[in-house]
Amino acid sequence: MISSELLKRFAGARRVTVLTGAGVSAESGVPTFRDAQTGLWANFKAEDLATPRAFRRNPRLVWEWYEWRRKLVAEANPNPAHLALAEMEPLFPNFQLITQNVDGLHQRAGSRRVIELHGSITRTRCFDEGTVVSSWEDTGEVPPKCPRCGGLLRPDVVWFEEPMPQAEMGRALAASVHCDVFLSIGTSALVYPAASLPVEALRGGATVVEINPQRTPFTEQAKFVLTGAAGVVLPELVADLKRASRA
Ligand code: OAD
Repeated sequence: MISSELLKRFAGARRVTVLTGAGVSAESGVPTFRDAQTGLWANFKAEDLATPRAFRRNPRLVWEWYEWRRKLVAEANPNPAHLALAEMEPLFPNFQLITQNVDGLHQRAGSRRVIELHGSITRTRCFDEGTVVSSWEDTGEVPPKCPRCGGLLRPDVVWFEEPMPQAEMGRALAASVHCDVFLSIGTSALVYPAASLPVEALRGGATVVEINPQRTPFTEQAKFVLTGAAGVVLPELVADLKRASRA
């Protein structure tokens, strides 16, 4: 049940900003990173797979690992959490969704105002040029080669030890500092600078809400904590928001 106090905060809100992490895609069957059983980092070593050094050392291994993730995501569907966030967008004059996820499921659910902080595995780019490549000749080489410069192709995601996309980070920071309500959903709040966004929202005076079945390092700073799965809590929240807007 969403508290009337929280609904009141939403009622007066014009600017709502949402930060999502892997937990939002968990109910679509997409593995998270740090969950004990299913987390990718519980079963693979991030430094062997998600760093430029790992790619230079073994480009085939890294490319094939992302191909496996890409196929898994292509077969996944947006879950009620993604759909609820897409429904939430038109309820507020100024709504901004910021995601750390690279699976593209928010867009497939219908969200339009999405900032991808860590890129997307649905896109591929040239390792040398840094530009997105939408098609290439399948020569059977793994990874495939850039049709322009012959360099290796790689997923268009942010790896560890790589800088965040400046423009996206700037927009995400502005949307976090200047908002009335900030939702941190399905993220362990461990990876910076994304994890600094809810803190910036607090500093900006926003009502900050955390939605997660577990506690995180941010939980005690949140003004409201909705403990539960995003696919359960978000549809309930959106239904209450819609009811309140009709009242
Ligand atoms: P994590 O795997 O670190 O955290 C997932 C969070 O989702 C945890 O807090 C879980 O408790 C929570 N969770 C699990 N199931 C959930 C559900 N059904 N509903 C809501 N929450 C649920 O994933 P992230 O916080 O997204 O970056 O990780 C942040 C970044 O670290 C990723 O973007 C990735 C990773 O390394 C890079 O690879 C650069």
